[in-house]
Amino acid sequence: PFVVTENCIKCKYTDCVEVCPVDCFHEGPNFLVIDPEECIDCTLCEPECPVSAIYPEDDVPAGQERFAALNAELAKEWPVIATRKEPLPDAAEWDGKPDKLPLLQR
Ligand code: SF4
Ligand code: F3S
Repeated sequence: PFVVTENCIKCKYTDCVEVCPVDCFHEGPNFLVIDPEECIDCTLCEPECPVSAIYPEDDVPAGQERFAALNAELAKEWPVIATRKEPLPDAAEWDGKPDKLPLLQR
């Protein structure tokens, strides 16, 4: 499956959800995740993210391996999102900031 990684946190552009043919994105307060049990590896979402936060599970950036398990865990808790919405207000400022994981809201 594909995995949403750290750079989505506090950005949440949601361009990714519009293209997913199986509606496997789930939405939390400041982050999205992909349900690994639903993702069919179509690759369509990856180029849609303006902050390049989406990767195949076997190509997640070094140091972000934990995001695969985090996507699986949070997909069970958060509701599906299939329609794009406005990004978070300071999305542009948070693009590329390091160490955003502690800022993830559940
Ligand atoms: Fe959805 Fe395809 Fe992205 Fe998987 S790879 S989350 S199926 S758009
Ligand atoms: Fe996040 Fe990128 Fe989607 S910022 S909400 S993974 S478009």
